[in-house]
Amino acid sequence: MPAIVVIGAQWGDEGKGKIVDHLAERASMVVRYQGGNNAGHTVTIGSTVLRLHQVPSGITRPHVAAVLAHGMVINPPALVEELDRLAALGISTENLHISPNAHLVMPYHILLDEAEEELRGAHALGTTRRGIGPAYTDKVARRGLRMQDLIDPARFRARLEVALERVNLELTRIFGREPMTADEIVEKYAPAAERLAPYVEDTSLLIQKALQRGETVLLEGAQATMLDIDFGTYPYVTSSSPSAGGACQGSGISPRQVSAVLGVVKVYTSRVGMGPFPTELKDDIGDWIVERGHEYGTTTGRRRRCGWIDLVSLRYAARLNGFTGLALTRLDVLSGLSRIKLCVAYRLPDGTETTEYPLDTELLAQATPIYETMEGWEDEDLSKARRVEDLPPQAWAYCQRISEWMGVPIDVISVGAERNDLVALRWPV
Ligand code: IMP
Repeated sequence: MPAIVVIGAQWGDEGKGKIVDHLAERASMVVRYQGGNNAGHTVTIGSTVLRLHQVPSGITRPHVAAVLAHGMVINPPALVEELDRLAALGISTENLHISPNAHLVMPYHILLDEAEEELRGAHALGTTRRGIGPAYTDKVARRGLRMQDLIDPARFRARLEVALERVNLELTRIFGREPMTADEIVEKYAPAAERLAPYVEDTSLLIQKALQRGETVLLEGAQATMLDIDFGTYPYVTSSSPSAGGACQGSGISPRQVSAVLGVVKVYTSRVGMGPFPTELKDDIGDWIVERGHEYGTTTGRRRRCGWIDLVSLRYAARLNGFTGLALTRLDVLSGLSRIKLCVAYRLPDGTETTEYPLDTELLAQATPIYETMEGWEDEDLSKARRVEDLPPQAWAYCQRISEWMGVPIDVISVGAERNDLVALRWPV
């Protein structure tokens, strides 16, 4: 009964969608366990580029059940729109399952996300402004609305009216915004409720039954380890737990059922939004990586900050998640660089060196990377490589160095955007 967790090891946008799509070939179920439509997972099938926000990447495989588990915060109208877009592309969305316990992103969460960001001014977090933080705040404050409320019209209106009493005080008195009415929200959410109701069922039970039948279940993390509310660069993080512990909590399975934890590592680093990023390149090479890697956000279109690979934070991610294998992605992007740098330690302001990731965010912001330099490889098309021998020796040496530093074997290397542009070395379990 293998459950395989797939997690981003950096600040997101590692290319998890493509890796999940690859593994989904042999799985019966893909489960999203946290986050909402702040995520943007891209899967390229031939000339079709799918951008998924709430629906798990496994939806592309007809035999795979796509589960939105209770650790998620779901924006119902946005989910309906996503389902419509998929249907228009001829992708069946029938095998979708939504937890009744998943919380709802409400229109006022989006207003509050924007208002809070504006109030923070120079200290803004750079959120996706999708209402994710305020939705999780309401969940933890035990005043959120859930999918089970949405699909019961009377209950939804009653709970919404109670919620609005507080929300409107916040909107008007703290942020000087207009209050919201239950009617306007019901009008927007009722059609989505009707549309999504048939998909709502106990997903934790559904996952358990699949595991008991011996099927492979993929648990797909959104965002990534360094954006984790507990382990990331707080407060420049998302409001959920993308890391391995969150996978069990958000999907409702036991840690004893997880057979493998795959860490998805982009072979350089990128970050959207604010927060410390020791290996960020603010020079021509940084710009070159952005353009060559088309490093613009799938969800917000923002230019991503780019830099060299950071093995200090990657070792931290490997320790926290217990990675059993690595998926190295976007190797093709670095083709053509004569030298490639890998950050192997940080120099701290007091002059000391460390290979351990500092938990103090202020200290991290002042850390200077210490690099090891490796030889690059020619600007050649790697996308046709299917075996290690097809890769330039320098590219393979670079991959091996990452694996050695992290102490984790390589399962797969992605060498292009298309679904099959992969060098597969081993299966996670
Ligand atoms: P939020 O999740 O919208 O609250 O944003 C919090 C931080 O996480 C911001 O820096 C966002 O840019 C970042 N973030 C959220 N989702 C993603 C993602 O899917 N990829 C990369 N960064 C993300």
